[in-house]
Amino acid sequence: MNVGFIGTGNMGRTLVEAFIRSGKLKPSDIIINNRTRSKADRLAETHPGLRIADNSRELVRETPLFFLCIKPGEFRPVLDEIRETVRSEQIAVSITSPVMIRDLEEWLPAKVAKIIPSINHAVLAGNSLFVPGNRLTADDQQMLWNLFSAISQPLRIEEEHTRIASDLASCSPAFFAQLLESLANTAVKETGIPQSSALSLVNQMTQGLARLLAEGGFTLQSLQERVAVPGGITREGLDLLNKEVSPVFHELIQLTHAKYDHDVKKVKHSLGHTAKKNM
Ligand SMILES: NC(=O)c1ccc[n+]([C@@H]2O[C@H](COP(=O)([O-])OP(=O)(O)OC[C@H]3O[C@@H](n4cnc5c(N)ncnc54)[C@H](OP(=O)(O)O)[C@@H]3O)[C@@H](O)[C@H]2O)c1
Repeated sequence: MNVGFIGTGNMGRTLVEAFIRSGKLKPSDIIINNRTRSKADRLAETHPGLRIADNSRELVRETPLFFLCIKPGEFRPVLDEIRETVRSEQIAVSITSPVMIRDLEEWLPAKVAKIIPSINHAVLAGNSLFVPGNRLTADDQQMLWNLFSAISQPLRIEEEHTRIASDLASCSPAFFAQLLESLANTAVKETGIPQSSALSLVNQMTQGLARLLAEGGFTLQSLQERVAVPGGITREGLDLLNKEVSPVFHELIQLTHAKYDHDVKKVKHSLGHTAKKNM
């Protein structure tokens, strides 16, 4: 089956490469298109057989299933371009949280799904967040579920939880990378330990932590209990973190949701306005 990807930026490229790496898709199954052609050229050079469409219309004509791997503000021109070409039997998958399924269904006759991926799929790990639209048949849903099972663990969520689930699954790799980097850099400032040693210690610790959770039979809770003996140094550290970090996460979640609400309104305005103009 031909699968199309409109947009081969960070996440479009990650998805294409993950599907190829998993063996679920061959390069010759994939058609891509990107606004800046050189980006698509580079991806096609790395994966011989992968085809580049001259524009999104051409891509949509040739693919029963296509992904919209573009940012919220980039939907309007893409939808304007493809809406006359899209057919009702096609499946369109958006990977963008603030674009509502019902808005895409108003714009396109296609069967629509929202599937939010994460950078973790680059190593065939992490959850993909699966929100099927009403037009998808049970077979369509199974096909998409199977596709994403090759590169991730799909998790069915309600659209209203897209933002918080994305915070936890998709943004958190960056959030926790920054926290860990900050821990290492603070250690350098406080103690003079060489930065390369501090970063290496934190890096190796994180890899071990991931394996303990994946293969070692630990949960986040049991891991804390095992390391923090009563009266020990780790216990004191955990008590401090418990007090100080929780308010930061409250603020973080409020911040991502405020930005999300803003983006939802902007997208709605852009798509609603266009729909009325074209009627
Ligand atoms: N990054 C993540 O970890 C992640 C995780 C989950 C979900 N997402 C979501 O995925 C979406 C894309 O994120 P990203 O990080 O991949 O952004 P990005 O790196 O900016 O990629 C967007 C790509 O879309 C291309 N594009 C824009 N308009 C186009 C058009 N009219 N026709 C064809 N291609 C077009 C851009 O081309 P140019 O080269 O011309 O800019 C760019 O390469 C966002 O909504 C984001 O929320 C991202």
